[in-house]
Amino acid sequence: MRVVVTGAAGFIGGHVAEAMSGAGHEVVAVDALDRSAAPDAARDNWAALADRPGITLVESDLATDDLTKLAEADAVVHLAGRPGVRSSWGPGAVAAERDNVTATRRLLAACQAAPPGRRPRVVVASSSSVYGSAGARPHREDDPPRPASPYARSKVAVEHLTARAVEEGLAAVTLRYFSVYGPRQRPDMAFHRFIEAARNDRPLPVFGDGGQSRAFTHVADVTAATMAAATADLPPGTVLNVGHPEPATVRDAITLLAGLLGVRPRVREHPPAAGDATRTWADTAKAERLLGWSARIGLAEGLADQVRRHRDRTEHAA
Ligand SMILES: NC(=O)c1ccc[n+]([C@@H]2O[C@H](COP(=O)([O-])OP(=O)(O)OC[C@H]3O[C@@H](n4cnc5c(N)ncnc54)[C@H](O)[C@@H]3O)[C@@H](O)[C@H]2O)c1
Repeated sequence: MRVVVTGAAGFIGGHVAEAMSGAGHEVVAVDALDRSAAPDAARDNWAALADRPGITLVESDLATDDLTKLAEADAVVHLAGRPGVRSSWGPGAVAAERDNVTATRRLLAACQAAPPGRRPRVVVASSSSVYGSAGARPHREDDPPRPASPYARSKVAVEHLTARAVEEGLAAVTLRYFSVYGPRQRPDMAFHRFIEAARNDRPLPVFGDGGQSRAFTHVADVTAATMAAATADLPPGTVLNVGHPEPATVRDAITLLAGLLGVRPRVREHPPAAGDATRTWADTAKAERLLGWSARIGLAEGLADQVRRHRDRTEHAA
């Protein structure tokens, strides 16, 4: 199968491109490296992909370039975008609109413009942030959206664009990822920042009191769900939660990380970030039923993996 992976220089996109190529698919990796919020990490990921056989690298900005060629594929896995709730306030809202909404609108239009019968299946990345905070039960896919930040609103818009493309005949599905972590996590994300702070003997920076809980999901589980969605015959328009079913608090995660890093858990509290959910919680019954997928990696195992790979990389780079 020929698969286009957008955002392939990113955290999740890099893992998906590698795994797709490892499974024998022909991969076209697409990214506009200078649109990354973490350009150094993007360049490292890109260089690592360049060393792999079976992956063609294409630098392209989905918000401005001609995308006709990208539609010449069996599947398009659309992971490019501007992630992050905190960075989407103020001037960040413009980047969220451009790289999430405009980029997705143009990519979907290019896929729809392919001749019928040769249109790719499309998998679109959305986010648990479309739900806002969970109450007394996990978020289900048919819950009404309650976006609480420009980022979350941009993802609601991405979902609407995808639903409209489906009405017009495109075989697209949407995956709502929940707080993804693991090797090569984006440098702005909590666990990466905690590991770096501990290695430099600084207190761990926490937004709020650490009591907020998240469905932390290891990137290997996210990659498995994404690959399954790109290869399975899901009904067009399907929306699936991709999250670990057992949420944990940030405080729990810090305790685990401190143990793994051999440090005393020392935190510095920052004011809670505007738009951050107090709790995310994934109901994954639908993904289990339609995709045969459920998250397998628990937080202790997953964090041990992230810490080990973080150490390997930084020691190798030193
Ligand atoms: N990481 C998470 O916890 C998480 C959770 C929910 C949803 N998501 C979504 O999953 C997707 C991937 O997230 P990630 O953490 O890997 O992000 P990332 O920032 O690591 O990767 C995104 C990549 O997209 C590229 N990009 C941005 N704008 C582009 C454009 N206009 N044209 C081409 N490439 C462009 C960037 O250069 C970057 O390499 C995003 O859509 C994000 O919103 C991520």
